[in-house]
Amino acid sequence: MTSSVPPEQSPTGGSAQAGRAGAAPAAGQTPRRVRVHHLRQAKERGERLTMLTAYDAVTARIFDQAGIDMLLVGDSIGDNMHAHPSTIPVTVDDMIPAVRAVSRTAQRALVVADLPFGSYEASPAQCLATAVRMLKEAGAHAVKFEGGEHLAEHVRLLTRSGIPVVGHLGFTPQAENILGGKRVQGRGNEAADRLVGDALALADAGAVAVVLEMVPAPLAARVTEVLPVPTIGIGAGSEVDGQVLVWTDMAGMTDWSPRFARRFGEVGRELSAATQAYAQAVHDRTFPSADHAYES
Ligand code: KIV
Repeated sequence: MTSSVPPEQSPTGGSAQAGRAGAAPAAGQTPRRVRVHHLRQAKERGERLTMLTAYDAVTARIFDQAGIDMLLVGDSIGDNMHAHPSTIPVTVDDMIPAVRAVSRTAQRALVVADLPFGSYEASPAQCLATAVRMLKEAGAHAVKFEGGEHLAEHVRLLTRSGIPVVGHLGFTPQAENILGGKRVQGRGNEAADRLVGDALALADAGAVAVVLEMVPAPLAARVTEVLPVPTIGIGAGSEVDGQVLVWTDMAGMTDWSPRFARRFGEVGRELSAATQAYAQAVHDRTFPSADHAYES
């Protein structure tokens, strides 16, 4: 995305090539932070945005250095890292240390913290209190929460308070019980119109971007067309302003991945092979060798 802004405004502070999403900054260059105005500029210039989840410092460093524009500390930490069956049990206290680790590590990416189920819905004031914790205690640059027009006042209050908000529409995992499971949302004219209305209401209230999850590709394209701020798709086709994936799906860490995700590597297999090689070397006493031992 950063190639979409002139070098002097580029978050990397470098040339268009160095700033292009997916490319590491030039050697020795201190990367400049991706800011919310860069998101809108990227949309205006037709540059695609990249977002990945991150839940710890190790992966945050790798993704940040690879040039990912936004790191989402998603409540998907629940089902991906904490062995919960869904995102629903995740608490603010689960999120804070993860957001802190990612924020402390990322030098360039905009860090977005998810507000977990039950921490924002009751009122704009509750939402503001949780979001303030994400910024103040954990160093996030923006927050994301799930829901449409009925949360426009929440978005408005946070925006007025200086907290950028990313919306989340379509399949919203925290609402899986009322949505009847993981299902594509926005099918049929009425549902499609409602989703467009929700997206416009969020943008009008100040949302800086809107995630569209499991939405038919033509509907995601329609939302992208009418929205002044970027749409970030996950299972929403290619005609959106950016893409987000859960990093474990992207890297091939698990046996199963959702239909909308592509495995860009087989990191899980590689890690398993490394682990088996280590165990074997300990058993057959080839590790540690003299090279790894200290002299007296
Ligand atoms: O929590 C998460 O990982 C998310 C993405 C699926 C967008 O909300």
